[in-house]
Amino acid sequence: THVVTDNCIKCKYTDCVEVCPVDCFHEGPNFLAIDPAECIDCTLCVEVCPAHAIFEEDELPPDQGHFLAINADLASRWPVLDHILDAPPDADDWNGIANKLEYLDR
Ligand code: F3S
Repeated sequence: THVVTDNCIKCKYTDCVEVCPVDCFHEGPNFLAIDPAECIDCTLCVEVCPAHAIFEEDELPPDQGHFLAINADLASRWPVLDHILDAPPDADDWNGIANKLEYLDR
């Protein structure tokens, strides 16, 4: 599966949703999560994410491993998002800020 990691938090650009062929993204207030049971590892979302927040499970940066479980948990509780949305107005200000987990709204 692919995994959405820390830099998506408060960025939530949703370009990834637009290209996903299996609608595996689930939407929360300020983050998106991939359902590991639905992702087919097509990799299309990786390049389109302006936050470079998506990684293949086996290529997760060492400090992002906990996001595998976070994606599975949140995807099971949040609704599917199947179309692109406007990014938050301050998304660009948060893009690249490290360790945003404390701001994740569940
Ligand atoms: Fe998040 Fe990147 Fe998608 S910021 S919503 S993973 S395009």
